[in-house]
Amino acid sequence: QAIPVITLDGPSASGKGTIAHLVAQALGFHYLDSGVLYRLVALAAMKHAIAAEDEPNIVAMARCLNVSFVDATVQLDGVDVSEAVRAEICGEYASRIAQYPTLREVLLDRQRNFRELPGLVTDGRDMGSVVFPDATLKIYLTADAEERARRRYKQLIEKGINANIADLVASLRERDERDSKRLASPLQQCEDTHLLDTTGFSIDQVVNQVLSMYADIS
Ligand code: C5P
Repeated sequence: QAIPVITLDGPSASGKGTIAHLVAQALGFHYLDSGVLYRLVALAAMKHAIAAEDEPNIVAMARCLNVSFVDATVQLDGVDVSEAVRAEICGEYASRIAQYPTLREVLLDRQRNFRELPGLVTDGRDMGSVVFPDATLKIYLTADAEERARRRYKQLIEKGINANIADLVASLRERDERDSKRLASPLQQCEDTHLLDTTGFSIDQVVNQVLSMYADIS
């Protein structure tokens, strides 16, 4: 019997991370935020002043990325970067380099290694389509752009990071477009994926919906 995997893919700020984390907690499963891996490569590249256009050096760096997940923190070269990876600039840079098939290839095994007993809940853009095509339950989570921008705004302000709603809407739209239109593992809704539009729903309602979908098939 394969180790169960629940995948939540969707556009930026659709609530994937929050929902996936809570579903993992409820089931006692492991959790992988795959976007963090792309953000870590982005952060390391920016630190070494590597341009987003410099594919060979980005890929070389991703190969020897020294990452560790310690408790609820993520560390790069032993330094806690949990806050730094969440910055918008990191997300934007990540979305630009995520277009490189060579980079995606390098990150494949790292992601698949998170599949351990008793199970995994993971979120990203291609978790159900490419990384875990045999996942037990595949969900495409979305919400309208304004609501997503408001959620992201709230998140940033709570962390004491300055933000502006109009800029966030524009940046989310640009990122979604790039993530959906790229050739390598684009964000897309596949045939075997359940669509969950979370506009107007509370976090608890969405978590319960995912849990009941999983209970129905497991
Ligand atoms: O989800 P998050 O906003 O943290 O992801 C940052 C960027 O990383 C996304 O905009 C996307 O381009 C890329 N990404 C990806 N595939 C994933 C997860 C993230 O291409 N599975």
